[in-house]
Formats: sequence, structure tokens, C-alpha cells
Amino acid sequence: ENPRIDDIKTKIRVVPNFPKPGIMFQDITTLLLDPKAFKDTIDLFVERYKDKNISVVAGIEARGFIFGPPIALAIGAKFVPLRKPRKLPGEVISEEYVLEYGRDCLEMHVGAVERSERALVVDDLVATGGTLCAAINLLERAGAEVVECACVIELPDLKGRERLKGKPLYILVEAH
Ligand code: PRP
Ligand code: MG
Repeated sequence: ENPRIDDIKTKIRVVPNFPKPGIMFQDITTLLLDPKAFKDTIDLFVERYKDKNISVVAGIEARGFIFGPPIALAIGAKFVPLRKPRKLPGEVISEEYVLEYGRDCLEMHVGAVERSERALVVDDLVATGGTLCAAINLLERAGAEVVECACVIELPDLKGRERLKGKPLYILVEAH
């Protein structure tokens, strides 16, 4: 019933069997090719968060780096990158998380976030929720309050929403 969201959904390409058999890959690069749909995506988040006293937008490497910074700029918040291991040069805190095969890790600079800051976590997609859970843990360890997680797409069948430690999740598009 929201034509902007319907249009965004049509711009996300679904690639079967990538990166391996059985996976329906949700490709947001085709959304980025359409300036109107890309802008609508950012604007929908900005409309939701502009008056919520959010002082920090934390974006998750890599695809959270596409959507997080324009939201941060528009709502007047700082941007904090949550990076894959051994990329940040300063002192970091780290959170490991489980993938379908093996483990991965996110890191955040010590001092990037101050205690009691209100944080929004941004990524492109929630699948199992492991990545967002690691991001929430990093911010909470730094003393921040995670107000919400925001993603463009959710794969609801994987129930990632249930792994977010009770934090609200806002998404634009459900993929089945
Ligand atoms: C993808 C996606 C999310 C994460 C979601 O990132 O961009 O960050 O997986 O999965 P989860 O909910 O099961 O944790 P990926 O780690 O594949 O890499 P990229 O963003 O660096 O491309
Ligand atoms: Mg990612």
C-alpha cells in the first residue's frame, strides 16, 4: 500500500543459487542503480529517525556502509563503522558471531561512542540475525543505548528478529 516501498522491492534483484546452491541472494546493487528508489530508501529511514534523538548511526561492513552514512548525515548523527577484523587501526572491542559455516567478527573503535548515546544500527539485510546481534553487543558494551536496528530487507523465515535481544527491528521489504 506504500508505492515507494513497492517500487523499492521491485528494484532488488533476486539471484538464485548465489553464492551457493539453494541460496536466493537479495542483491541491493540494482536498487542503487535507480536514483529515485535509492533516495526513497534513505528518505523512508530519515523520516522515521529524524526526531528520535539518535546521536550515532552504526553501519555494518560492508553493505551497511552504503545505507548508514546518508541516514547519519540527514539526521545530524555521527557515523561509526563496525568493521570486519583487523581493519581498524586504533584500539577496538570485538564481537564474534556464528555464520552458516564458521565464524566471523565485528570490531568497533574504543571511544567512537560515548556512554548513554542513542544508537541506530544499519545494515542492508537481516538473515539469521547473528550480525545485528554482534553489532548490538558492541554498542551496549560501549554503554550506548540501541534504539532500533534498521535494514532494507528481512528474510523472515530465518527468524533473525528473535535474536536481537529484544531490540526493535524496522525493515522496508520482506523477502520469502
Ligand atoms: C550479509 C548481509 C548482512 C548479513 C546478514 O553480509 O549484508 O550483513 O549477511 O546475515 P545474518 O543475519 O545471518 O547475520 P555478509 O557478511 O555476507 O557480507 P558483506 O555485507 O560484507 O557483503
Ligand atoms: Mg553484510
